[in-house]
Amino acid sequence: MPPTLSDLQRLARQAGEILRLGYEQEHQVDYKGAIDLVTEIDHQSEEFLLAEIQRLFPGHQIVSEEIGLVPGRLDDQWYVDPLDGTVNYAHGIPFFSVSIAYAHAGVIRLGAVYDPMRDELFSAERSQGACLNGRSLQVSQVTELQRSLLVTGFPYDAWSTPHDNLEYFGRFAKLSQGVRRLGSAALDLSYVAAGRLEGYWELSLKPWDVAAGGLIASEAGATVTNLAGQADYITPPCSLLAAPPGLHAKMKAVLDEES
Ligand code: IPD
Ligand code: CA
Ligand code: CA
Repeated sequence: MPPTLSDLQRLARQAGEILRLGYEQEHQVDYKGAIDLVTEIDHQSEEFLLAEIQRLFPGHQIVSEEIGLVPGRLDDQWYVDPLDGTVNYAHGIPFFSVSIAYAHAGVIRLGAVYDPMRDELFSAERSQGACLNGRSLQVSQVTELQRSLLVTGFPYDAWSTPHDNLEYFGRFAKLSQGVRRLGSAALDLSYVAAGRLEGYWELSLKPWDVAAGGLIASEAGATVTNLAGQADYITPPCSLLAAPPGLHAKMKAVLDEES
């Protein structure tokens, strides 16, 4: 049996409770790179999610941030980010989420992103729309860049890569109402779905960062593509541009300007 959206919603809430309970504790921080960190709570949330998915849906393949690949049927694939916004989490900033998506035959069908500190559960089923705690979501009506509040993020290898996003950040900072860096790609996309933010772009993401949020944003009416304007934003290195259709075209033109 394939999962239902309520399966993903329940899993996201349960893992979110692990994050919420662990939030006040002193954390054990391990570094995966110069600035890329992981806490013991990332691992606890992931262990819970992997065990539950394997118990309820044996044979499904799981792609999860800390453990990598749990082999299984390619037609039934899960993308799990057990804690999106881990740098915020480790610093005691209450903005982070759990992100879970399910793809059938390579197409993302279900997505859930849960913010346990605000008890906000964003979710979507393909062709059925997106919702926040059961309330239907719609992207912003704003299509003018100067009236748009945008959001982005920076890769963990920003110190060394030429693709550090700083040039794009500078361009949009001078053309929009403002650019936020909130620290959870899954919530950034969910906030675009909710119309709180108009548009989002980022480079060098991983499938678990964007699989659920991308579906939620597109089901709320956003155009969601990679930075080249193509539909595939799941094949790494993932880049993403998500905004209401009119604004998406304007943001794409800014990204395409010669430097
Ligand atoms: C990160 C967050 C951040 C984004 C980074 C991601 P993590 O995920 O989504 O907003 O800018 O690129 O790696 O490490 O907190 O799961
Ligand atoms: Ca992430
Ligand atoms: Ca993570």
